[in-house]
Amino acid sequence: MNMEGKHPVLQISHLYKTLGKRRILQDVSFETYSGEVFGFLGPNGAGKTTTIKIVVGLLMLDEGEISIDGFDLRRQFEKAMALVGGIVENPEFYPYLSGHDNLKIYADAHGGIGEERIAEVVRMVGLENRIKEKVGRYSLGMRQRLGVAQAILHRPRLLVLDEPTNGLDPAGTKTLRDLIRKLAHEEGISVLVSSHLMSEMEMMCDRVGIITDGILRAVKPIDQMIAAASPDHAVYLLRVDNAEAAEAALAGLEQVAVKRGEPGELEITLPAANEEELLAAVNRAVFEKGVRLYTVTKKEHRRLEDVFIEMTKGGDQIG
Ligand SMILES: Nc1ncnc2c1ncn2[C@@H]1O[C@H](COP(=O)(O)OP(=O)(O)OP(=O)(O)O)[C@@H](O)[C@H]1O
Ligand SMILES: [Mg+2]
Repeated sequence: MNMEGKHPVLQISHLYKTLGKRRILQDVSFETYSGEVFGFLGPNGAGKTTTIKIVVGLLMLDEGEISIDGFDLRRQFEKAMALVGGIVENPEFYPYLSGHDNLKIYADAHGGIGEERIAEVVRMVGLENRIKEKVGRYSLGMRQRLGVAQAILHRPRLLVLDEPTNGLDPAGTKTLRDLIRKLAHEEGISVLVSSHLMSEMEMMCDRVGIITDGILRAVKPIDQMIAAASPDHAVYLLRVDNAEAAEAALAGLEQVAVKRGEPGELEITLPAANEEELLAAVNRAVFEKGVRLYTVTKKEHRRLEDVFIEMTKGGDQIG
């Protein structure tokens, strides 16, 4: 991501937390920037919610420093909290009141938030057509979006969402994901969003931090995280009319390893650094032998999911 013009909003350094006798968080440090979606990825029990509860002021930290837009969470608690909006557990609403009236109650309690701002956030979350309906009739996805509307009413610099897509169907997930990206990229909000689903993080986040057992294992831009998960070789499946002839044709290509698969299929492995050039050479060699090439399919790279599973098992640092 282009970090130009972006500045750190949430800064966590050397955060420790013990609950009961258990050390839940150990030396956690990371920053989130304005205009970015930062994904906090980890399996159940990793410490995501604990971290988030500390950031939104629901839980005290034991050791370490946290600041929001420069305001220290301990020494300038109210100033820091004024810049944070969040949904930690499922947002609570009055079911017999409309979406609008729920927001209005929150706005009045907060102070300084008028009807114009309510209308603005309602448009942002795409609820303008349903905002007069009772919340009891809202779908889970609509309720989550109303939760986001409430969380951003007071114009926070940092929006914190703990597993916001839990329980949503694919359409609801996509709507919420698009909303989260828009709030970061168009409104410049710094969004911290947790999840245990790596596929979701890939689609939603600019950077991700992976946490397991209370320890932050890696923080990287999403493309680097995926690249770190990718091997240095690419594997393709070729479907041809004559596998034997194709194999012979490819024998002359030094960097290309060939394996016979199902009848009419070849699996080739080539260095990812030269991928396109070698693929063109494969095409040419096969064509020159008069072999008909029906399809070329790339076998999926290892994705974030694989890194994640590996880290969850081993707990080693990557990159
Ligand atoms: N009040 C508490 N007392 C003792 N241990 C706790 C308490 N609250 C949470 N824990 C423990 O802290 C660890 C981290 O929990 P946390 O809820 O932060 O994880 P999480 O990453 O949010 O997991 P999930 O994906 O399940 O939501 C867990 O092992 C949990 O059992
Ligand atoms: Mg949690």
